[in-house]
Amino acid sequence: MNIELNKIAGAGLSTLLVVMSLNMISGIVFAPKKPAVPGFDLPSLEPAAASGGAAPAAAAEEPIAVRLAKADPARGEKAVGACKACHTFEKGGANKVGPHLYGVYERNKASVEGFGYSAAMKGKASETWTAENLDQFLKNPKAYVPGTTMAFAGLGKPDQRADVVAYLNSLAEAPKPLPKP
Ligand code: HEC
Repeated sequence: MNIELNKIAGAGLSTLLVVMSLNMISGIVFAPKKPAVPGFDLPSLEPAAASGGAAPAAAAEEPIAVRLAKADPARGEKAVGACKACHTFEKGGANKVGPHLYGVYERNKASVEGFGYSAAMKGKASETWTAENLDQFLKNPKAYVPGTTMAFAGLGKPDQRADVVAYLNSLAEAPKPLPKP
């Protein structure tokens, strides 16, 4: 054997040594977790999910009358910025994508002259807009009036909806008494 062959053999052996020790180290660092019973490890239900997760918070929504008692029409006026792409709020305001909303509180549903309501909304024309049903509609328009053409996801915050209902009620010559808790 000449010197060159020894060098090559030496290089090969030391490479093997490095690879083997890397393998050992990674075996220690990433120790495979052996399941108690051979087979697949199925993810177990998280205790939070099993006990209902966030559901209790949603169930704890206060009635609209309670929220109205602490509502602020001025805050509601700020919150309706999201509606202004489609609605006007001032007296004599025009219809846009949606009907004008001046005096909508206790107005009959689908009753603005010349506005093309959806069949779904027209189906409710015998009802008026109350605090309760405005609250429900604004929470999730499509859930409250399936088939409505109001393309708006809804206002998720219960207190903010109360502010908006209080503001809508203020848009009238003589605002109506709001329900009391
Ligand atoms: C993307 C446009 C759009 C946005 C944003 C929008 N609306 Fe509407 N809204 C409509 C349309 C369209 C209708 C008519 C729905 C129908 O006929 O089904 C409507 C109907 C309504 C009605 C019923 C009016 C009536 O005369 O019966 C109320 C109340 C209302 N919207 C309030 C709001 C409020 C408050 C907001 C903001 C939080 C809002 N909307 C955001 C388009 C919109």
